[in-house]
Amino acid sequence: MATTQEAEEVAALRRLVDYHNWRYYTLDDPEISDSVFDSLIKRLQELEEAHPGLRSSESPTQRVGGLAADTFEKVRHRIPMRSLGNVFSPEELEAWVARTKRGVGAAVLSSAGGDVTDEEAEVLDSPTGPLGFTLVCEPKFDGLAISIRYEGGLLTEASTRGDGLVGENVTANVMTIKGVPKVLNRIGDMPEVIEVRGEVYMKISDFEELNRRQAELAAEVVASANEVEAISGQRPVRLFANPRNSAAGSLRQKDPKATASRPLSFWAYEIGDKIGGREVKRHSETLQLLRDLGLPVNDLVETAETGAEAISYCARREEQRHAMDYEIDGAVLKVDELELREKLGFTAKAPRWAIAYKFAPDEQATKLLDIKVSIGRTGKATPFAQMEPVKVGGSTVAVATLHNQDQVALKDVRPGDTVIVRKAGDVIPEVVRPVLELRPDDLPSWQFPTKCPSCGAPLVRLPGESDTFCTNAECPEQRIQRIAHFASRGAMDIEGLGEKRVEQLVESGLLRDPADIYDLNASKLMELEGFKQLSAQNLIAGCEESKRRPLNRLLVGLGIRHVGATVAELIADHFGTIDAIEAAEVPQIEMIEGVGTVIAESLHSFFMLEDNRRLIARLREAGVTAASIEPIGKLATSVSGELGTGSADKAGEAAPPRILEGAVIVVTGTLAKFTREEAEAAIKARGGKCPSSVSGKTDLVVVGESPGVSKVNKADSLGVPMADEETFERVLSMGLGAIG
Ligand code: IVH
Repeated sequence: MATTQEAEEVAALRRLVDYHNWRYYTLDDPEISDSVFDSLIKRLQELEEAHPGLRSSESPTQRVGGLAADTFEKVRHRIPMRSLGNVFSPEELEAWVARTKRGVGAAVLSSAGGDVTDEEAEVLDSPTGPLGFTLVCEPKFDGLAISIRYEGGLLTEASTRGDGLVGENVTANVMTIKGVPKVLNRIGDMPEVIEVRGEVYMKISDFEELNRRQAELAAEVVASANEVEAISGQRPVRLFANPRNSAAGSLRQKDPKATASRPLSFWAYEIGDKIGGREVKRHSETLQLLRDLGLPVNDLVETAETGAEAISYCARREEQRHAMDYEIDGAVLKVDELELREKLGFTAKAPRWAIAYKFAPDEQATKLLDIKVSIGRTGKATPFAQMEPVKVGGSTVAVATLHNQDQVALKDVRPGDTVIVRKAGDVIPEVVRPVLELRPDDLPSWQFPTKCPSCGAPLVRLPGESDTFCTNAECPEQRIQRIAHFASRGAMDIEGLGEKRVEQLVESGLLRDPADIYDLNASKLMELEGFKQLSAQNLIAGCEESKRRPLNRLLVGLGIRHVGATVAELIADHFGTIDAIEAAEVPQIEMIEGVGTVIAESLHSFFMLEDNRRLIARLREAGVTAASIEPIGKLATSVSGELGTGSADKAGEAAPPRILEGAVIVVTGTLAKFTREEAEAAIKARGGKCPSSVSGKTDLVVVGESPGVSKVNKADSLGVPMADEETFERVLSMGLGAIG
């Protein structure tokens, strides 16, 4: 028996799914992504399956798609426009291949009336091996399905899918789409009637251009979650959230002139009704017929003779997904032989002879378990979300940063909420928003803590600043983060001294600041849990080795505000020794090209602090020589030998090589080791450009913490590669080739 709570959840989910079906199909204005929608349906299905008493023929799980809207005349499809079954992983795809092979095997055997030979059995058993039939592999276009009827070669009717049986008559609008022929090519054997099925879509570049023009029209722009409505004089101007919405909204304009002004495109991929004309026995022949008739057929179509080839096709499409000027959300595999299709038939909802392999979604819904606050090396308190692990953007996500107090308040996410998580490409996961319809009653809003979770000292937020800090210099978490940063790969690179290890050593009292690292000895370490003689000796050897790290890395390791990798290199190169840097006054530091007053003052004030001077003295005593300088461009300049090692002023020689000549790189968000200015200076110093917005000309977007969402989305939709800070550093040393 279902509990009252479960029954209520089912009712709430049904209302929600119906609502989103209505937004998607009737208004062409979805508020949530397909993957979030799928996760709601999945949850509803699970509950219905677990509790037969809750099942209902009225449930949206029992219906296909949306209902036709009222604006257009209705059209009954002579041949229903079915939807496709979905699989979400290579394993599920293999299972479908195996099922289809069995289905085909049974069909072939029953018509041949024979037994399975050993050879045939082997073919039937392996989901990756030979299929025994052909699969046509196509991209799954993310647009909207339509059916176009031609009679005697003339376009007579076009309709949307609607609920699969009844759609909307959009003939006048489809007539305005450039890529849709109004008259078919005269081929020898012209079909009397042919219904072409395919997808209306908008190219990403056209979508961006359209939105740019729309934005120009808008005098005042009011942002909302999914779409922007703006008022330009009396006329509302719509900015669409993505090319799919834009295509759907454009096709369903009441005035065909409005559709004509929108850049729509079309891919043909199936035939519905067909009377007369060239006989086709295979889907591949259908596609050829469509091409011959002058219809646009996509050129990424391939055939597969083995399961492995089909799986590889899906993987390749997913990999190259963002490298195209139109959006696809999966791949479709279809049995080529039309006779076999007929034998395989349909399930209640979809054909057995085809399947959609859906790509890993960029967005998912999951439960927000808690919001916690982490303390960084500067004492900055960053809230982060702890969630029920969920697969999104190709990896499992359980935590995501919430950036700062204002961001949490703005998003109003609360522990106990169902939240939408987004992860596109390599970008750090982000909590987008709560699903308010699923929020339990009386869920309290989250309050930023007033005390540091590590040391209990008050957390302080200065007026006008968005960040909150623990100001206790003795705070153990700050110590851990400072030391871990000092030992990290971009700084002193001490093998075996990761954050967990540092935490243990701080807690056991062996480390209080970075200089203590050089007082460690193997016998002290061996008293601690997890250390044996060899591991203790290895760690000591790692610490010893780090003493020879170059000056610029030491500067990075000290964690001085505004001094990231590039500035550290400039400073190290200019002054040559830590003593000279310590003694430098602001005007001397400012003289360095690429170093401004803010950086100079930050560096100077760091060395003015007694504690920091003491730290440097202890490092010096321990034998941290910082005698060399390692230019970031080292790898790319290795031909020119020991560039920039130690000498006081070799600015001319030390200018990094122009390995980014002409490259267009946009930086968004906060990087740990570079200020924005430093990152841009480093790019420009290597010959690159740093515009403030992402466009089709952008070669790379460097994504830091709290990136600009529109930049990331744009890069994502344009297929511009994105890089995290670590990759960015490799790009600075090796050029764009480093992003692979
Ligand atoms: S074939 C009976 N091929 O996916 C199968 N559909 O979930 C008819 N779609 O409504 C569809 N690309 O809007 C087919 N290459 C492709 C497709 C494709 C996108 C869409 C289409 C359909 C939906 C099914």
